[in-house]
Amino acid sequence: MRTLNHMRLEFDARPENESFARIAAAAFAVPFNPTMDVLSDIRTAVSEAVTNAIVHAYRERGGVITLSAALLENGVLRLEISDQGCGIPDIPQAMQPFFTTQPEKERSGMGFSVMQSFMDDVQVESEVGKGTTVRMEKRVFEAEVKN
Ligand SMILES: Nc1ncnc2c1ncn2[C@@H]1O[C@H](COP(=O)(O)OP(=O)(O)O)[C@@H](O)[C@H]1O
Ligand SMILES: [Mg+2]
Repeated sequence: MRTLNHMRLEFDARPENESFARIAAAAFAVPFNPTMDVLSDIRTAVSEAVTNAIVHAYRERGGVITLSAALLENGVLRLEISDQGCGIPDIPQAMQPFFTTQPEKERSGMGFSVMQSFMDDVQVESEVGKGTTVRMEKRVFEAEVKN
């Protein structure tokens, strides 16, 4: 599948960069004429993934997060949020609704569920002690049917 455009950003795992990342991801999609709903879904999903990297992967002690985006010829936006934090020991468990390792901080455990409901596809790769990559896809436009 041909890539029409791509970008890659690296930023510190600080709370103020959560809004930076979600706005950057949405801004990347704007030239492809997404609906407001699609833009809002992208912002919400990126916000959840970046917040997880800040609060879980790096436990609020800082680190580096990368956000990359690729817009494919078929109209699908592919996003990747990566950290080199603590990693996730049990990914299926972590992705279950209401599962959280920080109940004392009143986290809902719904971050992954939100990503899954707002995006078309969510895949997580993680290794304990090495870090985590969250890959998400969202259709932003309908590819023209070629005869
Ligand atoms: N990037 C990450 N690095 C390490 N652990 C993570 C990461 N993202 C999620 N997790 C783990 O998965 C759990 C579920 O995440 P989520 O569904 O967003 O709920 P919440 O953030 O409310 O705990 C977290 O509590 C945490 O243990
Ligand atoms: Mg979360």
